[in-house]
Amino acid sequence: LEKKDLEGKSILITAGPTREYLDPVRFISNRSSGKMGFALAEEAYKRGAKVTLISGPVNIQTYADIKIINVETASQMYDEVKKMKDEHDILIFSAAVADFRPKNFKESKIKKDQWQNLHIELEKNPDILKYAGETKKDWQIVVGFSAETENVVENSQKKLYEKNADLIVANNVLQEGAGFDVDTNIVTLISKDKILEFSKLTKREVASKIFDFIVDYLCRKEQR
Ligand code: PMT
Repeated sequence: LEKKDLEGKSILITAGPTREYLDPVRFISNRSSGKMGFALAEEAYKRGAKVTLISGPVNIQTYADIKIINVETASQMYDEVKKMKDEHDILIFSAAVADFRPKNFKESKIKKDQWQNLHIELEKNPDILKYAGETKKDWQIVVGFSAETENVVENSQKKLYEKNADLIVANNVLQEGAGFDVDTNIVTLISKDKILEFSKLTKREVASKIFDFIVDYLCRKEQR
C-alpha cells in the first residue's frame, strides 16, 4: 500500500548546481547532477505532497505535476526561494549552491590576449538556507544538506545551529557511492535531538528516509 503521509503538505525543494558567469559563455559551477533533489521531489509527490522544485541546469525529466522553476545562478535561486518560501510547509535545500561568484561580469567574451594577468576576483553569494532558517515561520520545517569531506557529523551539527535548520542531511562526498552525480548516497540525518546513520541506499530510498524522519519530527513537534 502506498503511503500518503504528505497529503496536504506543500514542499519546496532546491536542486542541482548553480552557474556563476565570468562572461557570456564561461562560468564556475560544480558536479551536482540534480539527482538527489529530483528523487526528493518524486518521493514527496508520490506520498501526496504538492511539490515545487527550483532547479539549476540539469538533465532530468520528471512528472508533469511537479512544478519546476529553472534557474542558473545562486542569485536567481535566492530570488525564487524568497518569492515562494511562505507558500510552503517544508523547505528542503539539496542544491549545490556556489558559495562565491566572479565579482566582475564581462559583457562580451573575454579574449585570449585578455587572459594574461587576468585575476578572477570573487564575492560571496547569498546563503539561501541561512536566509530561510532565519526567516522561518513556526509552522515551517527547514531541511539543509551538508556536503563534507571530514568531521562530517560535527561540521553538519554546526550548520544545523548556525543556519537555524530543523534537520541536516549530511553526506561525505568523498565516499564511493555518495554525493555528487551518482545514483546512491550515504547519509546521516541530524536534528537537535536525534542522529540517524544509514548505509548506502539509492537516492530515492534516501529521500524516503528523509521524509520518514520529517513526518516523525512533525509528530513529535505537535506533541510538544
Ligand atoms: O545533485 P546530485 O548529483 O544528486 O548530488 C547531490 C549533492 C551532493 C549535491 C547533495 O547531496 C548535497 O550535498 N547538497 C548540498 C551541497 C552543498 O552545497 O553543501 P554545503 O555544505 O556547501 O551547503 C550547506 C547547505 O547550505 C546546503 O543545503 C546548500 O543547499 C545550502 N546553501 C549553500 C550555499 C549557499 N550560498 N546557499 C545555500 O542555500
